[in-house]
Amino acid sequence: MKILVINGPNLNMLGKRNKVIYGDKTLSELDATLKKEAQSLGIDIVSFQSNSEGKLIDFIQEHSSEADGVIINPGALTHYSFSLRDALADSGLPAIEVHLSNIYAREDWRAKSVISPIARGQITGLGWRGYLAALRTLVSELKGESRE
Ligand code: DQA
Repeated sequence: MKILVINGPNLNMLGKRNKVIYGDKTLSELDATLKKEAQSLGIDIVSFQSNSEGKLIDFIQEHSSEADGVIINPGALTHYSFSLRDALADSGLPAIEVHLSNIYAREDWRAKSVISPIARGQITGLGWRGYLAALRTLVSELKGESRE
């Protein structure tokens, strides 16, 4: 089983950008944590980050046929990128949307996600642990484990 872990604009700055909001783990540390969890779950993950909307879409188009699911933090693209939303929808893969911060407890414009209507679910405000929760949930569902 293979899961794509996709991070959008500015998430390469984790560990440097506002640590009160986004925590102090860097993106490499986050990726390492996810890789370790993936190993213990017996699955593969492919991580990708870009500051460019087009590169994120290219990555989804190029890798979706070999993947089983997606975990994505689209950064600010969450709030307005219909083309990223379309790429995710077109991939046909179950996608869990993750945000480090609670997007409903910040500026009004962050409370709107154009991604969530096509996502399997959304985890927001749980910091890096949200990615782990997303990974465990997605893998459990893909393995066909019961939701009850
Ligand atoms: C974010 C929330 C977005 O509003 C913001 O633009 C980000 C990060 C989060 O992880 O909390 O870049 O997606």
